[in-house]
Amino acid sequence: MDDVVSIGAVEKIRKHFPILQQEVNGKPLIYFDNAATSQKPLSVIESITEYYQEYNSNIHRGVHHLANIATGKFESTRQKVADFLGTDDLGEIIFTSGTTDSINLVAQAWGRLNIHSGDEILVSELEHHSNIVPWQILAQEKNAIIKVIPVTDKGEWDLSNLEELLSERTKIVAVNHVSNALGTINPIEIIINRSRQVGAKILIDGAQSVVHFEVNVKSIDCDFYCFSAHKLYGPTGVGVLYGKREVLESMAPYRGGGEMIKTVSFKGTTYNELPHKFEAGTPNIEGIIAFGSAIDFATSLDKDWVQFHEKQLLDTATTFLQEIEGMKIYGTSAQKVSVVSFLVDGIHPYDLGTLLDQQGIAVRTGHHCTQPLMERFKIPGTVRASFAIYNSIEEVNIFADALRKSVKMLR
Ligand SMILES: Cc1ncc(COP(=O)(O)O)c(C=O)c1O
Repeated sequence: MDDVVSIGAVEKIRKHFPILQQEVNGKPLIYFDNAATSQKPLSVIESITEYYQEYNSNIHRGVHHLANIATGKFESTRQKVADFLGTDDLGEIIFTSGTTDSINLVAQAWGRLNIHSGDEILVSELEHHSNIVPWQILAQEKNAIIKVIPVTDKGEWDLSNLEELLSERTKIVAVNHVSNALGTINPIEIIINRSRQVGAKILIDGAQSVVHFEVNVKSIDCDFYCFSAHKLYGPTGVGVLYGKREVLESMAPYRGGGEMIKTVSFKGTTYNELPHKFEAGTPNIEGIIAFGSAIDFATSLDKDWVQFHEKQLLDTATTFLQEIEGMKIYGTSAQKVSVVSFLVDGIHPYDLGTLLDQQGIAVRTGHHCTQPLMERFKIPGTVRASFAIYNSIEEVNIFADALRKSVKMLR
């Protein structure tokens, strides 16, 4: 694939994203904060309006026309997610409010039953806070121990002491597929293979992976896989927890309420079948329906082109960044998605972020909800540019000029 193909494809894709057509501070908006949340194509935005204008109704409970349409569309998203993740069991797809909610669900509903005093939970130093704190809450309650896979200078897992970190006491290994702060693609197959040997369950935080490459939960063979719709062109407030049927069946409900029950009586209550057992209350109906449109959009893209284009964006940015005096890039693994995190010697990341914003460029600055990782590198935070399919090489070149100018002003 050559540059001309790429330019044409990006122009076509950008037409789907109305938000990108605006100016910020008198400059065309350049949105490089995609790891925080992606922008939404028109089809997703229209799905939300269509729901409220044409068939707003609660789901599963009604026999009337609107309820049937809403229920059908809601459940069709579940089918799309199942296809997207490679399972044919719809009971294995649970809707949550996001990755954070999915992880908390597992930590509480699986963890409270299966973690006991002295048991171990293995995470990594690369984790987002939402894959650390739920385990800390559980560990504190159960008097369990959290062990941590350290990270190398390149921002990769250091697996040299894995044998010491894993033992029969390890009950669950919870790690991310892709690091949000550095972009590293983690070798989850090694961890899964070794964790299986000690009988530990495995949760993969896929918040940063599904937008970049295909994931098949059956070939990965994890027990749980989570992600958020809003990082995959979908709305906020919607997430997915994939769980293996036999593991989900063994778990107690997380929240009690409507939808998750079969019968309720003061003598005793029985719970609904999967996946409804874990979906108490009225869900984010319009969000989940719009998420179906987001999956349609994501699956309509040419996967080879996505990989090719994102690598071009990453390589172009990395090359120009390396030429800036005093530049340090954090996360230099050869296995990376299109995320680049950096600091310039003597310059605070917030100052750089502010000057870039004045030039219409949105980047993220700070600790990226990975304080232990920042502590590992002894830094307060970084500037992070994260690229998506609708970003162009031209935008990266404008970013290069803007960054050089900003660094000059701040020196
Ligand atoms: C790796 C990772 N895990 C978990 C989360 C939490 O996702 P959410 O806030 O959508 O629940 C994020 C969000 O940035 C993330 O990047």
